[in-house]
Amino acid sequence: MSQKLVEAYSVTDPYALRAAFGRFATGVVAVTYEADGVRYGMTANSFTSVSLDPALALVAVKRTSRAREFLETGHYTVNVLAEEQLDTGLHFAGRPGGPEVEWVTTGRSPRIAGALAYFECEPWATYDGGDHVLVVGRVTAFGEGSGAAEAAPLVFFEGAWRRLAAGACA
Ligand SMILES: Cc1cc2nc3c(=O)[nH]c(=O)nc-3n(C[C@H](O)[C@H](O)[C@H](O)COP(=O)(O)O)c2cc1C
Repeated sequence: MSQKLVEAYSVTDPYALRAAFGRFATGVVAVTYEADGVRYGMTANSFTSVSLDPALALVAVKRTSRAREFLETGHYTVNVLAEEQLDTGLHFAGRPGGPEVEWVTTGRSPRIAGALAYFECEPWATYDGGDHVLVVGRVTAFGEGSGAAEAAPLVFFEGAWRRLAAGACA
């Protein structure tokens, strides 16, 4: 494998840091919740599975986001977005304009139809994450969307929405 030049940057350069963090390819989730009878969502790629027993999952939530106080105190659902749900990812990142979000409201918190998987969560713990809060939720229910076996995930890499290349590399 060829040795490429690796550039070092100052950790006080947030733009360079964001770009370097962005080299970690992730899936994309929409965290959905209901407050005062209104359904909301927040697009996130900081979702991480944490523990199987107890079942715990983490999302790093920006302190200034509307979602923060609701996720710290109430029930919410983490929806793993499919490639075809790019509109939903944009919508809950503050860029509405696509088709209406299709909600499923049979659980303790609202979720999005057609997600690859969903995890209903209740508050477990929160931790200081600098300009974010690390919200750990206990998974109280979960499932996989119908057709999940065939569905492709929405991917985020280097600041762009991507699709997963077909085929395993090992
Ligand atoms: C791909 C992508 C990933 C994001 N990941 C996060 C994240 O992990 N945590 C976060 O707080 N915001 C994240 N955001 C930004 C939020 O989606 C955005 O700030 C949103 O408008 C917050 O909504 P709210 O203020 O209604 O809660 C992400 C945005 C995009 C496009």
